[in-house]
Amino acid sequence: MSFTVAIDGPAASGKGTISRAVADHFGLGHLDTGLLYRAVGARMLAGEVPEQAAQRLRPEDLGDPDALRGPEVAQAASRVAAIPEVRAALVDFQRAFARRAGGAVLDGRDIGTVICPEAEAKLFVTASAEVRARRRHRELLERGLEASYEVVLADVRERDARDAGRSTAPMVAAPDAVLIDTSALSIEEAVAAAVAAVEARR
Ligand code: CDP
Repeated sequence: MSFTVAIDGPAASGKGTISRAVADHFGLGHLDTGLLYRAVGARMLAGEVPEQAAQRLRPEDLGDPDALRGPEVAQAASRVAAIPEVRAALVDFQRAFARRAGGAVLDGRDIGTVICPEAEAKLFVTASAEVRARRRHRELLERGLEASYEVVLADVRERDARDAGRSTAPMVAAPDAVLIDTSALSIEEAVAAAVAAVEARR
């Protein structure tokens, strides 16, 4: 039987950590859909036409997520994500994953609104821009990447504005999504809130 959990929210809101924990807790598959856009963004930076890169994308292109996690690729991802043809090329793969036997958690920006409006459980995970920038800054430093907090905050704000302002599949909470603001929550508290919200839908 399929069971789909849609988890959306802005950059560094905690949705990745929450999604992995929810998938582990319920024994579901997990797809970080941001990696699809990051992979297309990386190919655009390498000189490919984004629409063609999206059409040619294969699961094995996501094999080394760490190579896709930097801020330059994130900005490129948010630019290609505003192109309707890029988004359209990635729909089938995401929907097939969502309906896999055994159930799935997908995290992104438009999962509960466009990719899986019929998902059994929907969450929208947010936090203030400052808290998110602090988290992302710490993550980058831990991975040995140079970054100033101010630059990371500006990047987060720019991507938020582009992701929420685009005309195709803008980032917005589905009307039936459970909102989780992680600004003042520990990871354990945020995961517990998400698990409880999904449990209530089972
Ligand atoms: O990890 P972080 O939240 O910083 O970003 P991500 O989830 O990896 O997504 C990178 C970019 O891909 C976002 O800024 C969006 O522009 C785009 N994206 C999207 O448009 N739709 C999705 N379902 C997932 C990501």
